[in-house]
Amino acid sequence: MKIRNALRAVGIAASNCASPTFLGHMAHSDFTWRWRSRKRSVVQLSLPDLVSAHITSSILLGPQCRGDSKIEDLLALATLVSRVRPMRLFEFGTFRGQATCTLLANAPPDARIFTLDLAPADRKMIDAAEWDKQVSDSCIGELFRNRESSDRITQLFCDSRMLDTAPFKRSIDFIFIDGCHDREFVENDSRKALEMVRPGGVIAWHDYSPAFPAVVEYLEDLAATQTVYCVEGSEIAFLKVDAAATERATHLIPAKVPLFSEPGRSRSALA
Ligand SMILES: C[S@@+](CC[C@H](N)C(=O)[O-])C[C@H]1O[C@@H](n2cnc3c(N)ncnc32)[C@H](O)[C@@H]1O
Repeated sequence: MKIRNALRAVGIAASNCASPTFLGHMAHSDFTWRWRSRKRSVVQLSLPDLVSAHITSSILLGPQCRGDSKIEDLLALATLVSRVRPMRLFEFGTFRGQATCTLLANAPPDARIFTLDLAPADRKMIDAAEWDKQVSDSCIGELFRNRESSDRITQLFCDSRMLDTAPFKRSIDFIFIDGCHDREFVENDSRKALEMVRPGGVIAWHDYSPAFPAVVEYLEDLAATQTVYCVEGSEIAFLKVDAAATERATHLIPAKVPLFSEPGRSRSALA
């Protein structure tokens, strides 16, 4: 009897070890361990280092839902936008619109924002990203719908892989990438952002964090050839794009080209 119970226990343990949940947790722990121990190429920059004088940044606060950005990330985003003063902004991944409202509140009063999310038909078809599949279509943009200044926001609906960048080519001053966090989508959205950003514009990514290995890996690869910054204490990373990068548009730069005069902790990050 004892032997049978022991064998059953071993069998249960073995089948648990092979379960997708267990393997997922193991892969995540392994990535977190490597993230903590490895030297990262993305340069850490403190929030005060981003600003050269006192500025006021606004964020939209309210009850949070899973999928909204954390307050420290909204603050980093608001500060970046206040500093860059972009007139044309583009967001990948609207969700409820909390980041869209933050972009709007910190950009100049006549700025325009384009924000993209999946159309209901695309959501049913999307072949990755379980969480994104479950987002309720009715919540897209609900935080800015019918609000003051919402006429400055244009909601676009399509799978970002199908987005035609031609109407936006090299005309966007600030791009926020926060759509699906799987590698295929991160690469697609970043490549399209490079096509749309104007020379000297800024691309920011959300979720530079061990919870999103594909974002970390993509940005660490990018940081091997360009200076990518992360705002300390937040999961916002960003890149100021030089003319050469927009020239190549479709890919990472093969040789190490410093995009900022001082690659390191400095206000020149956005100079
Ligand atoms: C994390 S939420 C965005 C949060 C929002 N930026 C904020 O901070 O308030 C990600 C959003 O990306 C959308 N999304 C996922 N895959 C997409 C795709 N392929 N094309 C367009 N949008 C996508 C999801 O529907 C979801 O609303």
